[in-house]
Amino acid sequence: MKGNFAVLGLQWGDEGKGKIVNFLSDRANAACRYQGGHNAGHTLIIDGKKIVLHLLPSSICHENALSLIGKGVVISCDALFEEIKQIEPVAKNISQKLKISPACSLIQPYHILFDQLKEKSNSFNTIGTTLRGIGPAYEDKVARRAIRIIDTLSEKKLSEKLEENISYYDFWLEKYFGHSKLDFQAIKDENLKNGEKLKPMLADVSAEIRKLNRENKRVLFEGAQGALLDVDQGTYPYVTSSNCSPAGIASGAGIGPHDIDYILGVVKAYVTRVGEGPMPTEIDDEVGEKIAIEGGEVGATTGRPRRCGWFDAVSVKRVIESNSVSALCLTKMDVLDFLDEIKICVDYRFTEDAEIFSECMDLETAQPEYITCKGWKQSIKGINKIEELPKEAIDFYRKIEELCGISVDVISTAPDDAGTIMLNQSI
Ligand code: GDP
Ligand code: IMO
Ligand code: MG
Repeated sequence: MKGNFAVLGLQWGDEGKGKIVNFLSDRANAACRYQGGHNAGHTLIIDGKKIVLHLLPSSICHENALSLIGKGVVISCDALFEEIKQIEPVAKNISQKLKISPACSLIQPYHILFDQLKEKSNSFNTIGTTLRGIGPAYEDKVARRAIRIIDTLSEKKLSEKLEENISYYDFWLEKYFGHSKLDFQAIKDENLKNGEKLKPMLADVSAEIRKLNRENKRVLFEGAQGALLDVDQGTYPYVTSSNCSPAGIASGAGIGPHDIDYILGVVKAYVTRVGEGPMPTEIDDEVGEKIAIEGGEVGATTGRPRRCGWFDAVSVKRVIESNSVSALCLTKMDVLDFLDEIKICVDYRFTEDAEIFSECMDLETAQPEYITCKGWKQSIKGINKIEELPKEAIDFYRKIEELCGISVDVISTAPDDAGTIMLNQSI
């Protein structure tokens, strides 16, 4: 396989994308984030040390890979600069490796304020967001009033746009929350300062990708969140505000749909969810609690506990079919070592019209139907050869292949690179 490839989650996020992107980075010349913002929390283990990235591509520790941030990403400058500072001792030459699209929308302090006040208020539906201002920033983008990085490079343009935005937010902040007026001058000064700091890192990211491809170099696209949190394809309204399924790569990075040759969909051997919203296979008993403990299921961004459930082949298959996913990467199989039996959801029953509810991904009334697989009841943690997996573990991943209709190309059995089984060497 030669061309561009993508690694992205097919569930509700936290599938282990960061580990896999870092692992596959030496097969690429650049990695590119193309949607989401610092709501993401991608964990890598480098030389035994845990690193959590929120905005930078998970390839950042690879000396030779360029790191790109495409126009579909919403950027909090505070979060970006802080992350660069934190990661600098481990990832060398960040300023030379990192290229950011000047078309990215910026998360402003009033986006964070609005997100937080809305989530706390009884007048709005609680989504359980990461409180990072992601939703309001994307709202401004589609409403065509976003402040993009380019706007921070001209005081006149910035002032005009900021005036419009601040009067808009002052109105709603006062009306809904009785909040005092925003400080125009302070916000403007901060944006100008940020623009100056960002300037050396700005580049035409889509042209950069085309240039790399002309030189027969490969780009790895790194998804944030997961397809079931996609604003169009996920469990709306309990979703994030971007297109985190493969459909979002083209618009968010500035490439064509044919420019991605291989899409690796990352799925956990079970499923987790942070925040509100339906999760048909949720396990409400001590088995769910044990999975959460064994899997360390605590949010990498907000520290909230993750809800755990059985692997849901129905939603994963739907995402695979509507997104041209090439193959699966099955992570965290080792977490299920302790189970006598492992369930997989193979169908839903809806109380009303199944077709309409499936298309809308309205899973509130979906009743899961399961098959049961035999557990392997031994530690597979760190295994990196397929021959070393017990028969029951092989049966389990093969059942997932059969139910999802595509192959499992990678299996992960530990948080670090050592626990990775490559079943398709041509990636
Ligand atoms: P991401 O958002 O998709 O990058 O995933 P997160 O980093 O938020 O959450 C995945 C968690 O599982 C992290 O703590 C990883 O270190 C860990 N992890 C990844 N793969 C494996 C695996 O195969 N086994 C185990 N036990 N942990 C894993
Ligand atoms: P990674 O990239 C898991 C969830 C939030 C909330 C919903 C909307 O680490 O997989 P937002 O702040 O985006 O408006 O919140 O989306 N969410 C995530 N859940 N992993 C993530 O990212 C997430 N990013 C957002 O918990 O339910
Ligand atoms: Mg995460």
